[in-house]
Amino acid sequence: MTKIKIEFPKLEDAEAIQNVFYKSWLDTYPNDKVGITIDDVEHWYKDAWEEKLNKLRSRINNPPENQSFFIAKDGDNVVGVCRIMKHADKNQLQAIYVLPDHQRRGIGKLLWDRALEIIDPSKNTIVQVATYNTKAIEFYKKLGFEDTGKRFSDEHFRMKSGAIIPEMELEIKAQNFE
Ligand SMILES: CC(C)(COP(=O)(O)OP(=O)(O)OC[C@H]1O[C@@H](n2cnc3c(N)ncnc32)[C@H](O)[C@@H]1OP(=O)(O)O)[C@@H](O)C(=O)NCCC(=O)NCCS
Repeated sequence: MTKIKIEFPKLEDAEAIQNVFYKSWLDTYPNDKVGITIDDVEHWYKDAWEEKLNKLRSRINNPPENQSFFIAKDGDNVVGVCRIMKHADKNQLQAIYVLPDHQRRGIGKLLWDRALEIIDPSKNTIVQVATYNTKAIEFYKKLGFEDTGKRFSDEHFRMKSGAIIPEMELEIKAQNFE
């Protein structure tokens, strides 16, 4: 593996970034028990590809003030993405996605290390994750996140089939940052 660079996205990275989201979703969210199908994910991404791409481009052009978005590149390839939101009372890790065939090589941890330079350590940091996404849950626990006990689902993530992604919340308390 060449050296991974963490950088802010450029407009020309938009399609590759969206591809990281799409491939990671396909690898992560279809689930028999919950009823989320490959077709659901295809619908979520592929059928809305241009719309999502335009939204992404406009976010790259005009980043929302309280948001930080950065990417991991292996050579010229975008292999990971991370988005942080700074709320008045807390930090939120909104997204951290690494291409399936680049996972378990320390890229997620590199993105998190960059995030730590951005978030406000005097506030708690939360992340919301699908309850069956054991990879991500193990990753977050390794970083120091703990289950808050909160369980919910967001109508925004209701799929075409009618199934919805069940979510949980994990948190790092401010005092646990070194
Ligand atoms: C979660 C995710 C970002 C982790 O990224 P990654 O680059 O694979 O993680 P790293 O290689 O930096 O792993 C750091 C540590 O986290 C833990 N970890 C990561 N993946 C793990 C897994 N699949 N199972 C158990 N522990 C895991 C390990 O302790 C690992 O250290 P080690 O490899 O030395 O044992 C990645 O699996 C991913 O993109 N998943 C799909 C998208 C997703 O679910 N994102 C979260 C949405 S909320």
